[in-house]
Amino acid sequence: MKIGVLTSGGDAPGMNACIRAVVRKGIYDGHEVVGFNRGFIGVMAGEIVPMNPGSVADIIHRGGTFLYSGRSDRFKTPEGLSEGTAVLRREGIDGLVVIGGDGSLRACKALAERGIRVVFIPGSIDNDIPCTDLSIGFDTALNTILDAVNKLRDTATAFERTFIVEVMGRSRGFLALAAGIAGGAESILIPEFPVDMGDVCERLLKGYKRGKKHSMIIVAEGVGTGFSVADEITKRTGFETRVAVLGHIQRGGTPSGMDRVLASKMGARAVETLAAGKHAVMTGMIGLQIREFDIDFVLSQNKEIDLEDYRLASVLAT
Ligand code: F6P
Repeated sequence: MKIGVLTSGGDAPGMNACIRAVVRKGIYDGHEVVGFNRGFIGVMAGEIVPMNPGSVADIIHRGGTFLYSGRSDRFKTPEGLSEGTAVLRREGIDGLVVIGGDGSLRACKALAERGIRVVFIPGSIDNDIPCTDLSIGFDTALNTILDAVNKLRDTATAFERTFIVEVMGRSRGFLALAAGIAGGAESILIPEFPVDMGDVCERLLKGYKRGKKHSMIIVAEGVGTGFSVADEITKRTGFETRVAVLGHIQRGGTPSGMDRVLASKMGARAVETLAAGKHAVMTGMIGLQIREFDIDFVLSQNKEIDLEDYRLASVLAT
């Protein structure tokens, strides 16, 4: 088989480890493997990078993606899709492995409908893709946030301030919820539940009365800006607030051990899946098992936030 691999959408730590697994496992099993630069932009342009085991040396520990990434509006149009499909056929690609987020998942469906054999691997710090407990990059981003929260606690305590930490996650709150639980936040504001500023301020005031020296509030970007939350808190409580917007720092850095293992397993499994004749599927991790799910099924699902986790965060912050 000739296998193509690409990364698309927001990069996530561990994507390099995943490319490495596709390349090394593919070649080990006797396949030819090529990469496409810049995601689907590179597919349309035919930007092909031949791969050998040495091409992916010394990348397992690096963030970003050495195949570059991209977001393409053109690939969402029938013209763009036809261009891409024609290149994949011309190059004799028997199977395409796409590592990316929900936009890339939809692109995979469109390609599969045009007869391209495709396997999707979830790579996104947002962890918002159904049918997998974890997507590649989430664990590293979570640890990056916690590292920042730990540092902010030092200065927050020194000045007895309230810090509002705005984190990524696009329209979902998975990253914020996990960061809030692991970071011991007083309140976690996520798009999935109504924001109750009265409750947020009451918690702050209660904490202050029992001698808390600082407070942390995690705000998912999908709720609004950390600055608007800070203004509201100051207006209602008179507390001094500071805001930290972690931004794209959350997307970088050396991937965690968990992300490297997940990426390696999913990459190797994608090769096996294609070789077994399966396609139009996503590799997901449920429990600690890697499994395949039909892309159509994944797209019909909505990944739910665990209400118990949300409640637990609230209990532990009292
Ligand atoms: O989907 C990953 C993500 O990092 C989101 O959390 C964030 O909203 C978005 O991408 C940022 O995108 P861009 O790279 O275009 O700034």
